[in-house]
Amino acid sequence: MAGKILLAGGAGYIGSHTYLALVAAGFEVIIFDNFVNSHPSVTERLAEISGAPVTCVTGDVRDSAALDRLFAEHDIAAVVHFAALKSVADSVKDPLGYLDNNLGGLVTLLAAMDRARCRNLVFSSSATVYGIPDETPTPETAERRAMNPYGRSKIMCEEVLEELATADPGWAFGILRYFNPAGAHPSGLIGEDPKDVPNNLMPFVAKVAIGEIAQIKVFGNDYPTPDGTGVRDYIHVEDLARGHLLSLQSLLSTGQGHVVNLGTGKGQSVLDVINAYSAACGQDLPFVFEARRPGDVPIYCAQTDLAKSVLGFETEKSLADMCESSWHWVTSQAHLKRP
Ligand code: NAD
Ligand code: WQD
Repeated sequence: MAGKILLAGGAGYIGSHTYLALVAAGFEVIIFDNFVNSHPSVTERLAEISGAPVTCVTGDVRDSAALDRLFAEHDIAAVVHFAALKSVADSVKDPLGYLDNNLGGLVTLLAAMDRARCRNLVFSSSATVYGIPDETPTPETAERRAMNPYGRSKIMCEEVLEELATADPGWAFGILRYFNPAGAHPSGLIGEDPKDVPNNLMPFVAKVAIGEIAQIKVFGNDYPTPDGTGVRDYIHVEDLARGHLLSLQSLLSTGQGHVVNLGTGKGQSVLDVINAYSAACGQDLPFVFEARRPGDVPIYCAQTDLAKSVLGFETEKSLADMCESSWHWVTSQAHLKRP
């Protein structure tokens, strides 16, 4: 395989799972991460799973000199850019910090790629760019609407990439709009392991299952949905990792960019998740209904036709798989022993 693949933010939840998918496909992969929301120990576990040493460079994508050194030392054919802050709540408290890290980081990375004549980038975008969508399942042609500084940072990043590709067709961008990632690697050695307090549903449900939190707060049961609770398009992180492999292979083989949703196209409610996790962990999980969370929408669901036609991508794993793998991760010794 000519050229290495650089995973900016590759030590994180989605990056670490994508690392394994790319290595298994024969790519030589380098992780670049400042560990603001991940743990260096993940590289040891990636080495254990993959059976090969992991090349990981500690650094910040806003550090031009560090990036120039990296591109000078390695022949990098493409970059997958995971490195961003992703908490909606934190972005409201620190909008400038989010723009500096997420938008500033992307621009600095692109400038370093330009100097190194590396023109292929897969970008981690989010269904958040759709704001409150007019239609669900939501197609990629839906209007982008920022609901918070985090979502605004993702829209601005997409616009930078569009601008650059228009100015110089030599660039090829795979913009992947993830819906709701969940689950973990079947080994139980890696999974969602944030330093920040997770806002997401699945990590909270997991904390109740292992007894760290007393009960799940269900934010609203009066939505116009089958059981009144919020509906989302949960996608297994293993499926998501495979979607990145397909996006990268498409960029490298065609030189053509794409913007695609990565989701299952099926909606699952909060109560569906609680029931599935209860089955996975073998215990009824306590929950209480509370008021709606500000900014939440009733339903988020991906239209998946384009991912299928452009990348040949279809999800393979179920909500049960997500809950079972998450339960295995949170109860695995490796996770608990982590320093
Ligand atoms: P994560 O926080 O687990 O991983 C992000 C990684 O990037 C972390 O290891 C962090 O240390 C690193 N990082 C952050 N800023 C950096 C910087 N300036 N320099 C170097 N490294 C930096 O998050 P994740 O869930 O793996 O998400 C990866 C990407 O996918 C993010 O861009 C996120 O916005 C996007 N996304 C995530 C979700 C989700 O629900 N997990 C949904 C949609 C989109
Ligand atoms: C899912 C459902 C909640 C927690 C977020 C980010 C988005 C993206 C994906 C980065 C909703 C309900 C949740 C809880 C609950 N991340 N819920 N109790 O809000 O769809 O999207 O993660 O790009 O940017 O906004 O995911 O997991 O927070 O919520 O009832 O303790 O679970 O109301 O219906 P969301 P979520």
